[in-house]
Amino acid sequence: MSETGIKVAIGGKGGVGKTTVAALIARLLAKAGKRVIAVDADPVANLAAALGISEDPPITPISELRQLIAERTGAKPGTYGGFFSLTPRVDDLPDRFSRERDGVRLLVSGTLKEGGTGCMCPESAVLRALMQHLILYRDDALVMDMEAGVEHIGRATTRAMDRLIVVVDPGARSHAAARKIRTLAADIGLAKVSVVLNRVLNAADEDTARKALGDFDILGAIPFDDRVAAADRGGKRPFDDLSEAPPQFETIVGALLSPAP
Ligand SMILES: Nc1ncnc2c1ncn2[C@@H]1O[C@H](COP(=O)(O)OP(=O)(O)OP(=O)(O)O)[C@@H](O)[C@H]1O
Ligand SMILES: [Mg+2]
Repeated sequence: MSETGIKVAIGGKGGVGKTTVAALIARLLAKAGKRVIAVDADPVANLAAALGISEDPPITPISELRQLIAERTGAKPGTYGGFFSLTPRVDDLPDRFSRERDGVRLLVSGTLKEGGTGCMCPESAVLRALMQHLILYRDDALVMDMEAGVEHIGRATTRAMDRLIVVVDPGARSHAAARKIRTLAADIGLAKVSVVLNRVLNAADEDTARKALGDFDILGAIPFDDRVAAADRGGKRPFDDLSEAPPQFETIVGALLSPAP
């Protein structure tokens, strides 16, 4: 890991708070002076809202920029077979297609539809090259909001990811999901997996979860906070004023910035 280049992916079961946690981590990294790229790799992209970034005009995911994909790969998107470049140029895409607020640049990547090993179509060649560029060759901090799986990070680049943060809702049955995600992550060479507990109701709730996940590195426990849902309802980003965010977020970002030896 380079001095400026923290690279984290956020995963976990549906609805546990991945996007909320990703947005707060990204904003706090920016506040700490890092240049941050936040990647929304969820097919149902909503990281923009969590970051308070305008979606007017709507943001088209990179994976759906058909003309660009055709230009860069020399093939038509959606074609299988035929010749196209597996190493398209992508280094200009983060600047061209991101929207920035408060030092966080959002890039909506779209998702590889067929996992890390399957589809070799033009759009996946572009997305893979883009991930590789962001993870291996750029020193911006990277925070990636994903759907539950980890397979679309791609084998080639996972080793260079600093860690996968699995968000776990202590009240729900997401412990099993955390274990499954860890196994999947290990399968593709991503060894460093940490947990963030989210929507923790009270000390007993936290304690139970910490015991159940005793073999995980637990970065922190975020309390249940009505203001998150209230912000959602009001169409605002949670904790518009960052100083009002639960202090546990600062602790988590502190741990990311100075990992234990
Ligand atoms: N700490 C919290 N306190 C209270 N509510 C929260 C907290 N974190 C998240 N939420 C709420 O939980 C819901 C899910 O959050 P979020 O969208 O971040 O989860 P997700 O894991 O990204 O979901 P998805 O799997 O759909 O992408 C939202 O309604 C959000 O307002
Ligand atoms: Mg989400």
